[in-house]
Amino acid sequence: MSYLQMENIIKRFPGVLANDNVSVDFNAGEIHAIVGENGAGKSTLMKILYGEYQPDSGRILMNGKELVLRSPRDAIKAGIGMVHQKFMLVASMKVYENIILGDEIAKRGVLNKKQSIETVRKISERYGLQVDVNKPISEISVGSQQRVEILKLLYRKANVLIFDEPTSVLTPSEVESLFKVFRNLKKDGKTVIFITHKLEEVMKTADRISVMKNGKLQGTVSKEDASIPFLTKLMVGGEIPKTTPRKNIEDKKPIVEFESVSYISADGVRRLNNMSFQIHSGEIFGIAGVEGNGQKELIEITIGIKRKFEGTIKFNGDLLNKLDILQRRKLGMAYISEDPFNIGTCLDANLIENLISTRYRDIPFSKGLLINWKRCEEFTESQIKTYGVKAASVKQRASTLSGGNLQKVVIARELSSDPIFVLAAHPTKGLDIKATSFVHDTLIRLRNSGKAILLISANLDELLTLSDRIGVLYRGKLTGVVAPPFDREQIGLMMLGKDVAK
Ligand SMILES: Nc1ncnc2c1ncn2[C@@H]1O[C@H](COP(=O)(O)OP(=O)(O)OP(=O)(O)O)[C@@H](O)[C@H]1O
Ligand SMILES: [Mg+2]
Repeated sequence: MSYLQMENIIKRFPGVLANDNVSVDFNAGEIHAIVGENGAGKSTLMKILYGEYQPDSGRILMNGKELVLRSPRDAIKAGIGMVHQKFMLVASMKVYENIILGDEIAKRGVLNKKQSIETVRKISERYGLQVDVNKPISEISVGSQQRVEILKLLYRKANVLIFDEPTSVLTPSEVESLFKVFRNLKKDGKTVIFITHKLEEVMKTADRISVMKNGKLQGTVSKEDASIPFLTKLMVGGEIPKTTPRKNIEDKKPIVEFESVSYISADGVRRLNNMSFQIHSGEIFGIAGVEGNGQKELIEITIGIKRKFEGTIKFNGDLLNKLDILQRRKLGMAYISEDPFNIGTCLDANLIENLISTRYRDIPFSKGLLINWKRCEEFTESQIKTYGVKAASVKQRASTLSGGNLQKVVIARELSSDPIFVLAAHPTKGLDIKATSFVHDTLIRLRNSGKAILLISANLDELLTLSDRIGVLYRGKLTGVVAPPFDREQIGLMMLGKDVAK
């Protein structure tokens, strides 16, 4: 008998059967991966196991005994914890405060502070979860914040730890450390369940893999019986279409020109240091680098969120420095952001509103002061179809879309304005294999049709396949710009600040 069983779980949302009679089991001391396309029902299933959603029918058993989980509180009592895609920490509070927040022992008073910190220290040592307990959350990296979330669960004695796409926010070395933590948890007899879109990770880390499709469980396989092509087939039910070949582009002209751009942040740190480069028409210019080396500032300066910097940026020959975001959009800039939850969309608005939000004042969407809602609706319908957004209706609130589908909405909106230049920041984060391939294809098509693209990605493979040239960012400086044939090792060294450009 398995340690934990989900039996015949059914969960319906308006217009969609998110979980269609799913039965799956989890063992103690195993790492179990959940994979499947965007909108397949993975997060829903895990939220049910965490007591956040109640199933319409079906049951959950632990050691053969039925568990009734009316809320996450019940789940935590039963030893089940979850780390969400969006962390739930209080930014202004210190690490240890976040860990013990709301826990019964801590409530008994200040006297226990020392004892609590000691407990946290022990847990952190045991599982390899290094954090500075006295720092405020706002001052630690995303990887450390995730460790705090894990410590929070372990502090509450969780035996089952659920992770929703934990690696999508991490740098490659942080991913390695997380997997080490997974193995330590497993050694200790705990159950680790993680959702991911990266099959390489699955094959490296998981003991068993469950595949979901359209709300159904396609099957659970052990790693020995699985392979990437096999899992892909189970997930998408066929082959992934090949991307469009790159066309030879002649007559390239500079579209975006950075000249000696430097940016010093409010705390006096030089986040961008004398950056000069050009992005041409018909070119994908990739930026490689370990996250936190100036990518965020480069994005904000390019699209106009930050406008106080040294140097100049030109767009099609015109000076951009003083223009705001809307003015830059009018000139033909588009921006695909990495985070559809916080910056890409308005979660309370529906899909129509989200798709036209950047240009509802333009023809054909408005006539004079009136918005032509029918046109907007038709437009949204067609975009949803083109981009394969899984939604019950165009009037559905954005907050009810799955993570990957939300990202597709952002991409559809940004590309539908027929831009001259696209800033694509981690555009495939959270997307499934098919959607990733679609976005790659779209970027190559844009390039082939003469658009300029700045591609910022933490995924080196993505950069190597898509880029015409790659600039490597290290501590706010371009350590070099390389052209094909790309040398992965050379780029890796440059990412660590070694000046090895040939
Ligand atoms: N609160 C909700 N209200 C309405 N529909 C919802 C809600 N939560 C999820 N859904 C729908 O249920 C389906 C499954 O969503 P879910 O978030 O479980 O997918 P997922 O497999 O996690 O996808 P992704 O890989 O994109 O995160 C989707 O069609 C989604 O729109
Ligand atoms: Mg999800």
